[in-house]
Amino acid sequence: MNAVGQPISRFDGRLKVAGGAWYTADISLGGVAHAAIVYSTIANGRTVSIDTQAAEKAPGVVIVLTHKNMPRMNPVTWSHLHPQGQTYLPLQDDRIHYAGQPVALVVAATLDQAAYAGTLIKFAYETHLPVVFDQRTAKKDAVEPPRRMWPLSSSIGDADAAIADAAIKIEQTYTMPDRHHNPMEPHATLAVWEEDGTLTLYDSTQMVVGTRKLASLVLGIPEEKINVVCEFLGGGFGGKSWSWPHTLLAALAAKVVNRPVRLQLTRAQMYSMVGHQAATVQTIALGAEHDGKLTGIRHDSINPTSLFDDYVEYAAVASRHLWQASGGIATSHRVVHVNRNSPVVLRAPMEAQGHFALESAMDELACATGVDPVELRLRNDTETDPYSSRPFSTRALRECLTKGAARFGWDKRTPEPRSMRDGRYLIGQGVAAAIYTHWRWPGKARVTLKANGSALVEAAAHDIGTGTYTVMAQVAADALGLAPDRVAVRLGDTRLPESHPAIGSSTVANATAAVMLAALAARQRAVELALTGRDAPFDGAATDDVIIADGRLGLTKANLNITYTELLARNGISSLVGDGDYNPVEEVNGPKAIFSFSAVFAEVRVDPDLGLVRLNRFVGAYDAGRIINPKTARSQAIGGIIWGVGQALLEQSETDPVSGQYINRNYSGYLVPTNADIPELDVMFVGGFDEEASPLGAKGLGELTAVSVAPAIANAVYHATGKRIRDLPVTVEKLL
Ligand code: MOS
Repeated sequence: MNAVGQPISRFDGRLKVAGGAWYTADISLGGVAHAAIVYSTIANGRTVSIDTQAAEKAPGVVIVLTHKNMPRMNPVTWSHLHPQGQTYLPLQDDRIHYAGQPVALVVAATLDQAAYAGTLIKFAYETHLPVVFDQRTAKKDAVEPPRRMWPLSSSIGDADAAIADAAIKIEQTYTMPDRHHNPMEPHATLAVWEEDGTLTLYDSTQMVVGTRKLASLVLGIPEEKINVVCEFLGGGFGGKSWSWPHTLLAALAAKVVNRPVRLQLTRAQMYSMVGHQAATVQTIALGAEHDGKLTGIRHDSINPTSLFDDYVEYAAVASRHLWQASGGIATSHRVVHVNRNSPVVLRAPMEAQGHFALESAMDELACATGVDPVELRLRNDTETDPYSSRPFSTRALRECLTKGAARFGWDKRTPEPRSMRDGRYLIGQGVAAAIYTHWRWPGKARVTLKANGSALVEAAAHDIGTGTYTVMAQVAADALGLAPDRVAVRLGDTRLPESHPAIGSSTVANATAAVMLAALAARQRAVELALTGRDAPFDGAATDDVIIADGRLGLTKANLNITYTELLARNGISSLVGDGDYNPVEEVNGPKAIFSFSAVFAEVRVDPDLGLVRLNRFVGAYDAGRIINPKTARSQAIGGIIWGVGQALLEQSETDPVSGQYINRNYSGYLVPTNADIPELDVMFVGGFDEEASPLGAKGLGELTAVSVAPAIANAVYHATGKRIRDLPVTVEKLL
C-alpha cells in the first residue's frame, strides 16, 4: 500500500508531547553564559552617553557590550530574498532608528543576572520625534522603492479607461494594521565557538542555510566554518524565515567572552527585533458590466517600512492573477519610511492582506450588481493568468467554489443583509476566493538505505511544525518500497545536504521532491545490485521489471524473493546512498502559471446590541494539487484558518505616535484566537496531481489556507449587519 495519500499521524508527535523534542532554548551545554538585550525606549535619536559601571559590578556579570566595545560587523545589503531580516546591524553606532532597538548586551552567569544588570545601565539620549505611519497621510508620504522581488507596478490593457467607462464602479480603500507573528516558541540562539574556529549556532530559524550565509557575511568567516542547527520549531510564522540582529549578537558575544552564549528574546523583545507584518493602505477600483463581469481592476497598496530597508508588502499581486478583467488590470506598491524595525513576511504575507481588499471589493460588486457572490466569481474565472498570459497549470477554483458552496449549504442563504437570524442574533454568510503563489526552489537531499533494511532521509530543510518529518518519510517510503515507519528523517542542520528555507509553503513541492529523487536513486542502486551484483538474483532482467514492496525485491508481486538486508549483505556493503538534487526553473520562467486556489465560506453570528462577532462555522475548499498526507494537510488548513480568524477579528499591533513604541507587546495585549473563538472548521481538498508544480504533483498549501478567511468573515459580517467594515480587525466599536 502506498504511504502517500494516507492520513498518517506525525512521527514526532509522541516526542513532542513527551518533552523529547528539544527546541532551541531547551538545549543546554556546560559553561554557557547567558546574554540579555537592553533596548532603546526612544524611536529616533542617538545615545549621548552610556554608563555601564554599575552593571559591570553586578553579580555574575561577565561583560557589558555596547556600540563602544562591540566588535564591528561587515555591512550587508538587503533584498526580499536575502537572509537578513534587516540591514541595520546591532551595536555598531550611536544612532537610534526605532524603539526597541538593541543598545546593550549583558553577558552573565545566569539569565536573571544578565537581565538585572541590564536595568542598571544608564542611557542619556538625544531624542527626536519619531516618524510613524499614519494611514491618513500614507498616500502623500509614500515613495517608490527600488524593485526587490516582483515588479512594483504592473499594467495590462488600460484599467483606468475600462473602469471610467464601466457600467458599475466600486472604489474603496481597505486598511489593515501592523501584526506580529507571536509564535509560542520565543526566538533563541545558542552560539558555540570550537577551538578550531568553527561556529555552531543553535538557532530558532526556518532557514538554517540562510542563517549560515548571513553569519558568514557579517562575521567574515567562511560558510564551511559555520554550522546552524534547528531541529524543531514551535511556530515560525515567517518571523523565523530571515535572520535577525540577536543571532549575530549571540555569535559575537560568544567570541568575545570565549564561551558558549545563550540568548533568548523576551516576548516583548519579539515585537521589535524579529520583524512584523506591515500595515497596508490599499485602494481598489473595480469596473464591471451589469452582469458582474469585470472590465477593469486597479489595486494600489502602501505599507510602512524601516528607515533603512525597503520591505514591500506585495498586497496588490493577488489582483494580477485571480480574476480576468476584459479592459485591463493595473497594480502598484509604494512604501513609507518610518522609525521602526524592518517588516518581514508573516503568515501568508502579501496574499493575506491583498485578498482582504480584493475579495471585499468583489463582495461589494456582488451587492452592487445583485449577482450572487459565488456566481460572480464563477463569471470572472479564467483559465489564463491575466498577468503573464500563460495558461494555469491546474486551477480547480471552479470546483472550490461549487463544491465548497454545496458543502456549506450556500443555496439556503438569503441575499438581503440582516435577513437571516438565529433568535436575537444576526446571522451572516460570506464567501471569498484565493490564489496563492507557488514557490519553486532548488533543494538537495540524501537517502541512505541501511543494512538492516531501514532508510535515513537527510536534508537541511525544516519541519516548522507542520509534519515535514512525516511527509518526507512517506515519500521516501514509497520510492524505496518500504513501510514509512522504516524511514527516519533528519532535518534542520547545515551539515546535511543544502535545501531551501521553510517559507512560502514550499517544502512539500520542492525539498520533498528532492527526497523523492534521492530515494529513487538509492532504490536504483539496489536494483542494479539485484541485476548485476554478486550472485545477482535477477540476472538478465530489466530495471523496470523489478518490484519492491515492504523492503523485498522481486520480479513479480507474488514472488518477492530477496530483502534489502539480504541484498546488501550478499554484496558485502553496509549501506546504499542516493542523492537527490531538485532544481526547478523559477515559476515565472516556466510555460505555465502555477498557483494554488481556494474558496472559503464563513458563517458569523453577530450580537445586534453588543456588536460582538462570533464565527459559527467555516468551510474551506482547497486546490493545492495532490495531497500527500490528508491528516497533516487538514491540520495545516485548520491552523491557517485560525490565523485568518485572528486577522479578521483580533490581531493588531498598536504604535504610540509619541514614543513610536508598540504598545501591546504581549499575549494579553495582542489578541490571537483561542479555542473558544474557533467553531467547527470543515476543510476539503479538491485539487489533483499538478505535474508542472512538482514531481510530487503538490502545490503550496499551508499559507493558502490563511488567505481570504478575513474577507469571507467581513463579507459575512456585512451580510449579517449591513455594515461594511473596510478596516481590520472587525472589532466591536466598528460595528456599533
Ligand atoms: Mo511564511 S510567512 O512564507 O514563513
